[in-house]
Amino acid sequence: MPSVSEIMDNLDYGPSVEDSGAVRDWLKQRGPFGHFIGGTFAKPGETFTVRDPATGDLLAEVSQGTAADVAAAVKAARKAQRGWAGLSGSERARYLYAIARHVQKRERFLSVLETLDNGKPIRESRDIDVPLVARHFYHHAGWAELRDAEFPGHQPLGVCGQIIPWNFPLLMLAWKIAPALAAGNSVVLKPAEYTPLTALAFAEICRDVGLPAGVVNIVSGDGATGAALVAADVDKIAFTGSTEVGRGIARTLAGTKVKLTLELGGKSPFVVMEDADLDAAVEGVVDSIWFNQGQVCCAGSRILVAEAVAPRFGALLTARMARMRMGQPLDKSTDVGAIVDPIQKARIIDICAQATDAGAELVGGQPGEGCFIAPGYLRNIGPANPGMVQEIFGPIATLSTFRAADEAVELANNTRYGLAASVWSESAAVATDIAARIKAGVVWINCANLFDAGAPFGGYRESGFGREGGFVGMLDYLAPPAPKPAKITTPTAPVPAPGAGNAQDGIDRTAKLYIGGAQKRPDGGQSYAVPGGLAPFGNRKDIRNAVEAAGKAAPKWGAMGGHARAQVLYFLAENLSQRRDALVARTSRAEADAAIARAFHYAAWADKFDGRNVQTKTGHLVNVVPEPYGIVGITCPNEAPLAGLMSLVMPAIAMGNVVVAIASQDDPMPALDLYQILDTSDVPGGVVNIVTGPRDELAKTLAAHDDVVAMWHAGDAESLQTVETAAGGNLKPVWPVTPRDWTAADAQGRMMLDHAVQWKTIWLPYGA
Ligand code: NAI
Repeated sequence: MPSVSEIMDNLDYGPSVEDSGAVRDWLKQRGPFGHFIGGTFAKPGETFTVRDPATGDLLAEVSQGTAADVAAAVKAARKAQRGWAGLSGSERARYLYAIARHVQKRERFLSVLETLDNGKPIRESRDIDVPLVARHFYHHAGWAELRDAEFPGHQPLGVCGQIIPWNFPLLMLAWKIAPALAAGNSVVLKPAEYTPLTALAFAEICRDVGLPAGVVNIVSGDGATGAALVAADVDKIAFTGSTEVGRGIARTLAGTKVKLTLELGGKSPFVVMEDADLDAAVEGVVDSIWFNQGQVCCAGSRILVAEAVAPRFGALLTARMARMRMGQPLDKSTDVGAIVDPIQKARIIDICAQATDAGAELVGGQPGEGCFIAPGYLRNIGPANPGMVQEIFGPIATLSTFRAADEAVELANNTRYGLAASVWSESAAVATDIAARIKAGVVWINCANLFDAGAPFGGYRESGFGREGGFVGMLDYLAPPAPKPAKITTPTAPVPAPGAGNAQDGIDRTAKLYIGGAQKRPDGGQSYAVPGGLAPFGNRKDIRNAVEAAGKAAPKWGAMGGHARAQVLYFLAENLSQRRDALVARTSRAEADAAIARAFHYAAWADKFDGRNVQTKTGHLVNVVPEPYGIVGITCPNEAPLAGLMSLVMPAIAMGNVVVAIASQDDPMPALDLYQILDTSDVPGGVVNIVTGPRDELAKTLAAHDDVVAMWHAGDAESLQTVETAAGGNLKPVWPVTPRDWTAADAQGRMMLDHAVQWKTIWLPYGA
């Protein structure tokens, strides 16, 4: 440690180290740690060591959860859940409120523990992580109080298994536990093996506030413990972590009806337009990629800067980087702390080496002793360079340039991820235009890496699905009211043989597929016998053609305003109504009337399913905006050939999606009757595409297609498993459509629209 006179000589900071005595005493007194199950800490089992990454010192011994431990925790959670859900919203709210108060009372203790365990600077854990944790529990105490008023008829899911990463250990715990409890669920949470300590301290808070035993259970351990939790008897899995593990979990849960939300990796763009305030943008980079040593899923890791200002921006950035202080995380003036573990450090160095081998130049970013890596960035880097493509998850950004706004958007979207983006421009018109065109769940305008309990957070594309925070986040922990049960649930007949026989009722008609607004012969040139004639026997190629046609229609339909889309749907309803007699003759009165009602109903919604402007602790205008997915694949119910199709296709297109629908296999003719009505109703070609034939086979191809962004599947458990497995490839969300009476009034409404949009949260500086 330098002496005072040395410090006076060079005017450098004097170290100001936060006292960790109380935390170290606590660790000594409590350790080794067992799991927290049914309201008490179990005896420690086989343990693993947890170390301070900044020094390598041993902090604690923590139990490695076995499948039996997980099963015991799930059992305790199951036992507790009914009673917890049976409390009134106000009663649950009081517990959440008490947790928030206790987090605040132990703010310093929790910050120091987090910093010791994770290596993040104390300034961050004290000023960002822990206050956000308290805010999360306060906010969700409010949702517990308001659940029944704001989500009428909704029920909790049951027991939620939650798996979290090591980059924001306590904050991720809060993001998972607070909404689950507010909704009336119980929880088994597995913290990351590098950073389990604040979760164990949180377990003590649960005990101290008298939370009913078993409502929150914490089982520590590694990936094997996580896998055991995924395989356990839970009703939901919420996972935050790497895309690869997320993909594996999606595959494991395929067909199980366990609800899944995934918050995965990112390679988020940080776009600096020519007219940006460059000094502010450089501070934005600091907050983006050098915050938490860059171990942030939404880090602005790809800096894209307008060519005209690139030299100045680069100079400012390099100068600012040189002033970042790397050092002991407990020192209050440290900007850059330790990487969480030597394994992660090695991973970062390896990706940087791959990047430089492929021709990029690394500025800064040098590894230090122990778990430290200095801030840096890669320049002269091409779009296919491994450093540009892979999530580095360290304090290393990439820096590249663009000429025009269109190119900026193209580069920003040139990734399989879609978690976040940051856009810098002094022009509101430019910034909001870019924000609208970037495919990401969160966009920060002239700011970066801001979080709040009221602002939904989550990804597009391979960054996962589901949202955490705010009203949308609550929906992911609730089940909507049960629908009116189906009157008939005849299973699909065996896969039809193509080319079989003549039409059963003697009407000689060979219908075609409906692709891109035109009637198309099936690729295989074959038909199959169905009631009312011969239906085209579609195959994989037909699905691919339909997806291609939908892709062409998507940008224009998606960008069309709600009013214009409503006009098209009203006109469709009008034309369906004109053809009612024919539709009744083909199906039934109930089906025909339901079909007309759906077009009319979703025309009403087209310009009214709005987002919200939500309040955050910071002075920002935060808009949560519904956006269409793009191409939605729909396997329509077999048993309600007209009402089922219309009940699903109408809400999807009302929200600006385009659709590839696989019609009822056994009775597709009513769907084929729709072509002419769609044609005459100004529905642009390619917005609705209809394919008939072997439903489950076609659904598998559709679900596996990379351009299909979301899949809705009305089918049996076996076909659902096939579809969910196929969809796991590019992590598209699958909505397993519950069987219901498709002609009933409750087969339409807001709950369908919840599946038809993905939410984008846009932060704009406001006021102050
Ligand atoms: P990881 O995805 O393996 O770990 C995250 C959590 O999942 C931990 O609790 C872990 O124990 C658990 N887990 C691991 N395998 C599992 C399995 N098969 N089933 C269930 N749970 C399992 O991430 P890891 O290995 O710690 O980090 C590797 C890379 O992942 C990072 O370098 C980064 O690129 C990315 N990552 C992204 C995060 C994000 O917030 N999006 C967070 C952590 C890591």
